[in-house]
Amino acid sequence: MVLSFPKSLMPWSLCLLLAGCADQHDYDALSGEQLFNQICADCHRQSGKGSFLEGIPANAGTRLDREQLIELITEGSSEHKKMPVISQLDRQQAGRVADYLKTVLNR
Ligand code: HEC
Repeated sequence: MVLSFPKSLMPWSLCLLLAGCADQHDYDALSGEQLFNQICADCHRQSGKGSFLEGIPANAGTRLDREQLIELITEGSSEHKKMPVISQLDRQQAGRVADYLKTVLNR
C-alpha cells in the first residue's frame, strides 16, 4: 500500500511536466502578431495605441529600435519603469514581437 502511493502520484507530475513544456512550446510556435495580441494588447490594445485612461502609452510608433525593444520586454528599462518585464518571453520571442511592432503597427 505504502509503496504504491508514490506511483499513484506519477501521472500527476508527468502531466505537470508536459503542461510546462507545452506552454513554452506554444510561445515558440506563435508569430509576433499572435504574441503581441496575447500579451501586449492586454495593456496597449491590439492597435498598439494604448489607453489614455489607464495611463498606457501607445507603443505603435515607438522610437525604440529592435534591440531596445527586446531589452525593454525581457529586462525592463529605466526610462519606462511603469512597464513590467514580460518574463514569459525570451529574447527570440521578444524579437518577433518587436518586428511586428516596427513593421505592421508602426505605420
Ligand atoms: C501590464 C501592462 C503592460 C503590458 C502587458 C505591456 N506594456 Fe508596454 N508599457 C506599459 C506601460 C505602463 C508603459 C509606460 C512605461 C513608462 O513610461 O514608464 C509601457 C511602455 C511601452 C513602450 C514604450 C513606448 C514609447 O514611448 O516608446 C513600448 C515600446 C512598449 N511598452 C511595448 C510593449 C510590448 C512590445 C509589450 C508586449 C511584449 C508590452 N509593452 C506589454 C504597460 C504594459
